[in-house]
Amino acid sequence: MNLLEKLNLLAEKIDVEVKTLKTLEAVEAFKIKVLGRNGALTDLMKELRNVPKEEKPALGKRANEIRQAINEALDGLTKEIEAEVLQKKMEQETIDVTLPGQPVTQGHPHIIEQVMQQIEDLFLSMGYEIVEGTEIVSDVMNFERVNVPKDHPARDMQDSFYIDDHHLLRTQTSAVQPLVLEQHDFTKGPLKVISPGKVYRRDNDDATHSHQFHQIEGMVVAEGITMGDLLGTLELMSKEIFGENREVRFRPSYFPFTEPSVEVDVSCFKCGGKGCNVCKQSGWIEILGAGMIHPNVLKMSGIDSNKYTGFAFGTGPDRMAMLKYGVNDIRQFYLNDERFLNQFIGGTK
Ligand code: PHE
Repeated sequence: MNLLEKLNLLAEKIDVEVKTLKTLEAVEAFKIKVLGRNGALTDLMKELRNVPKEEKPALGKRANEIRQAINEALDGLTKEIEAEVLQKKMEQETIDVTLPGQPVTQGHPHIIEQVMQQIEDLFLSMGYEIVEGTEIVSDVMNFERVNVPKDHPARDMQDSFYIDDHHLLRTQTSAVQPLVLEQHDFTKGPLKVISPGKVYRRDNDDATHSHQFHQIEGMVVAEGITMGDLLGTLELMSKEIFGENREVRFRPSYFPFTEPSVEVDVSCFKCGGKGCNVCKQSGWIEILGAGMIHPNVLKMSGIDSNKYTGFAFGTGPDRMAMLKYGVNDIRQFYLNDERFLNQFIGGTK
């Protein structure tokens, strides 16, 4: 048999065998068997060396044709087998809709917001209205109408951010007092309002002071309101935030817009009053300022101060949260560090 006949015979055999290949492994093995270093076709091509010179081109061409045909056939086969494998896999794999999904992380209210909501809920349940003032106010509302005239030294304590000569970022939620007072219709019943929000003071920020913090103002005005009503109300609020068994005490103080004025302390929720590091060994924690609304404030808002009396208090949710959760730097609340904030996902109780 001459080389051409051998080549043609091999080509025929290959045609038949290719049809029997069913797996990618078989295709690969067959390729090596025919085209590899010691493959059938490679062997025949080595014989080319021994044929007469003039026969070489034709034989070489034929050998190349065969090699190309094999490659094409095997490539086609590989694609077919891959497609079949994929098809089978897709038929076998069904989606199990009962498998647990990827959890979606959900946000939660900021800890200060939680404390404020807790206080708001309490006062709503006692029939108070929530009124939100604006953060930019006139100095008339922030100071004059709450009995702090232009030259009053109390202005210095709340040195603030002025926007122009007559407007500033409010230094206290007490700035809503005149608005609420002048708008209230006493023929419809007593005035009972709380007003939560942000306030601003030019403070050198340190661990217990921030230039921006929160307050909740509370006010009740009607005929016959007394300090006893104030005490009872603040006792309820203290128990709501710091737990049952809390006692409240008044210490005399001074605010221009209340007379008499008091600082309000709550018995220490940690040691119960015996003295510890939270209450600085005193057994009491200062939580807010309050008092009976000064007659001048009522009068300036057109209210008959002989007929009506009322109390007001101003409390700081930031400070409450610091005390309750042992946070020793107020700036933590405003850094937006999730490691800090995520400790308070569970609510305030
Ligand atoms: N506005 C006072 C402050 O910011 C708090 C306060 C409010 C005191 C109402 C008495 C009555 O310090």
